[in-house]
Amino acid sequence: MEKPKFKTVQEVIAAGEGLPERYLNIPTGNDEGQPLNGSVPVMDIPAIDLSLLLSSSEEGREELSKLHSALSAWGVVQVMNHGITEEFLDKIYELTKQFFALPTEEKHKYAREIGSTQGYGNDMILSDDQVLDWIDRLYLTTYPEDQRNLKFWPEIPNEFRETLHEYTMKQRLVIENFFKAMARSLGLEETSFLDMYGENATMDTRFNMYPPCPRPDKVLGVKPHADGSAFTLLLPDKDVEGLQFLKDGKWYKAPIVPDAILINVGDQIEIMSNGIYKSPVHRVVTNREKERISVATFCVPGGDKDIQPADGLVSEARPRLYKTVNKYVELYFDYYQQGRRPIEAALI
Ligand code: OGA
Ligand code: NI
Repeated sequence: MEKPKFKTVQEVIAAGEGLPERYLNIPTGNDEGQPLNGSVPVMDIPAIDLSLLLSSSEEGREELSKLHSALSAWGVVQVMNHGITEEFLDKIYELTKQFFALPTEEKHKYAREIGSTQGYGNDMILSDDQVLDWIDRLYLTTYPEDQRNLKFWPEIPNEFRETLHEYTMKQRLVIENFFKAMARSLGLEETSFLDMYGENATMDTRFNMYPPCPRPDKVLGVKPHADGSAFTLLLPDKDVEGLQFLKDGKWYKAPIVPDAILINVGDQIEIMSNGIYKSPVHRVVTNREKERISVATFCVPGGDKDIQPADGLVSEARPRLYKTVNKYVELYFDYYQQGRRPIEAALI
């Protein structure tokens, strides 16, 4: 397979030729009063104890109602007591840093190829006039195991592969419990969402590196988008902020909560919940001095499954808002390329 000719952000910096225009954002009316590098308020989202969510105790019910209000208001929660140790999460962060610190030639062994989303590379260039994001990535399908493409899985640092495998298996439990908790918080049968998610659901993990950027006032790490997943598990950098969520037309920053996993609803839970849980628009701003890393895992329903509002959430008082969709992620990229919100395509 042919390798694409691209420069990662790290290579752009190493070339020392200044900041290419392709990264510069043109201010839009939406940012008025909130410049890219301005200070923004912190979002008020709760830390949820995952181990309590499935208990039928009084405390468990309280935790479910916290989950319900955070997901209705923001579509985002910080999840604690998720069963993955701090030590293990630190190892993931460390291996991510080590991978991006490798020499260019070594990283290019895992370079993305034309027509593939997996592998190492820059922001995917889908059109000539696209403003590029200030981000380098390693993107890997991790589950089911037979969909792994190991040629993109780094052999150095040498614990990378086995640690990613272990992380995937640990995340599966978190994902299953979170699906059950969301269904319960909406008064549905525990497995309602899991049944739609299906046996053939996939997990994709994206290791993100945002190098220091000379123009945080003009350049974004990731432009505003909502995720096409059912939901996304994120390990945001432990020291460097940058992730922001949009609510009622204003940007708020995500707090840094050590050892928590940030979970945001994606478009497919918005559909399954008939719009009660919203898939939030978010972006990442850049930092002049510090690099930032994050690790995102997208939980994507199987292509054999129809995704639609759960029966129990449709009534005369709350009519069905979304069509039945299938292979939503394909539709997602078509819309994304046109700069539109893909969820619009699913609205009735
Ligand atoms: C994403 C994303 C946020 C981050 O990869 O879709 O929103 O903090 N990442 O890197
Ligand atoms: Ni995202």
